[in-house]
Amino acid sequence: MFETCKSQPPPVESDTWQAACFSTSMASTMLSLAPASASALLDRRDSSKVILPKVKIGGTAGRSLSVKKNENVLHNAQCSGRITMTAAVNVSRFEGVTMAPPDPILGVSEAFKADTNDVKLNLGVGAYRTEELQPYVLNVVRKAEKLMLEKGENKEYLPIEGLAAFNKVTAELMFGADNPAIQEERVATVQSLSGTGSLRLAAAFIQRYFPDAKVLISSPSWGNHKNIFNDARVPWSDYRYFNPRTVGLDFEGMIADIKAAPDGCFVLLHGCAHNPTGIDPTSEEWEKIADVIQEKNHIPFFDVAYQGFASGSLDTDAASVRYFVSRGMEIFVAQSYSKNLGLYAERIGALNVVCSTSDAALRVKSQLKRLARPMYSNPPVHGARIVSNVVGDPVLFDEWKQEMELMAGRIKNVRKKLFDSLSAQDKTGKDWSFILSQIGMFSFTGLNKAQSDNMTNKWHVYMTKDGRISLAGLSLAKCEYLADAIIDSYHNIS
Ligand SMILES: Cc1ncc(COP(=O)(O)O)c(C=O)c1O
Repeated sequence: MFETCKSQPPPVESDTWQAACFSTSMASTMLSLAPASASALLDRRDSSKVILPKVKIGGTAGRSLSVKKNENVLHNAQCSGRITMTAAVNVSRFEGVTMAPPDPILGVSEAFKADTNDVKLNLGVGAYRTEELQPYVLNVVRKAEKLMLEKGENKEYLPIEGLAAFNKVTAELMFGADNPAIQEERVATVQSLSGTGSLRLAAAFIQRYFPDAKVLISSPSWGNHKNIFNDARVPWSDYRYFNPRTVGLDFEGMIADIKAAPDGCFVLLHGCAHNPTGIDPTSEEWEKIADVIQEKNHIPFFDVAYQGFASGSLDTDAASVRYFVSRGMEIFVAQSYSKNLGLYAERIGALNVVCSTSDAALRVKSQLKRLARPMYSNPPVHGARIVSNVVGDPVLFDEWKQEMELMAGRIKNVRKKLFDSLSAQDKTGKDWSFILSQIGMFSFTGLNKAQSDNMTNKWHVYMTKDGRISLAGLSLAKCEYLADAIIDSYHNIS
């Protein structure tokens, strides 16, 4: 698969590049972004202003402009705003920049903060809270930080691929230290900016080395997946995953869609604790998924943001990934320590690419570094040191596992209490047992947008509009209140 991945960049065909979009950093040209109001446009008769010839660029992929190799252009990029080569007077050159909508997940927290009602509950963002609904810093993290302080380590740049000690322990945690792929040095591991940054780096790699490949994304999926591939200009399409009738996995639909896709797609899979549904394939289903992926010459791409958080066991939650590796498949794995070590703000994670040979792994790693360098240069050190101190130290590692079991256990208790409350308080006899069969931080309630709006507007329960609630943000004490809100929204709003 990685035979085309050489240490050099893809060749430039000629010394002119086709660009569909200009960089706005052509500083001296005073570009203004359309649509600017007519009065804002430069009066072409005023000789004191810079006037540039009007050039048709941007807008659609079909229109293009030839520019010299050394010019600052966005290579092979599409842009949605139309740029007129006209300078602006007494008006911001950002008139054409429209207001972006709030992020569907992080925007929920903003709305929650603005709500002054005491009963409010934030079940939007997937971040662990204590029973008192307070953020939690793990004891092992505090201990690791104390050790780091005592050592008085410096703040020098890390290499592009990150902290060596981190890369070693993170790959071992994911695949198992005795995994032949690790022993044979077939895994290219690069520290990256948590799960999101690792996905983004992989997307850039796909865009560069598999420009014709499409990524298949479960429907539904974590909302940022599509943004990531859109921004990396990687085409994607959905595969069926959720069956609203059973509030379970649409396994037949999933297999059919993966089969129907053109050969050689990347199939994005949630390694455990599928977000937002909380529904994971069984081990038999994983086997069939691997069969069809191999049959179609697809490339599995695992997103593992919840290792240890689904079952409470790091090994159990890595079983899907390890199974695919054991079948000799080349796979991508994006890893995150936001949830399982509570290192949300440290932006610590990794991208692992398991290759068939150690030589391919070396080449892939060299290209991942090459992509990372102009994106963020090198990753931050603090989180990497925390992880390597915790995972690399047998005592702290054991303590971490215990703490993780406690966190996962609290979520399981809340899940059970919510189910009990719904069953007891809903007099219609509706079966809420699907909540118990879901796994991880989230529950996909099956509430539609109008019902989710009612949860927020009437009950001050903040959640994403796809009906997902984060049980990590719920306490036992609030389960009955939440059950009332769900029952009201489900039965009284259509
Ligand atoms: C499925 C999935 N992937 C990736 C991430 C990325 O998280 P982070 O960038 O904080 O590691 C999340 C976070 O919610 C997620 O749910």
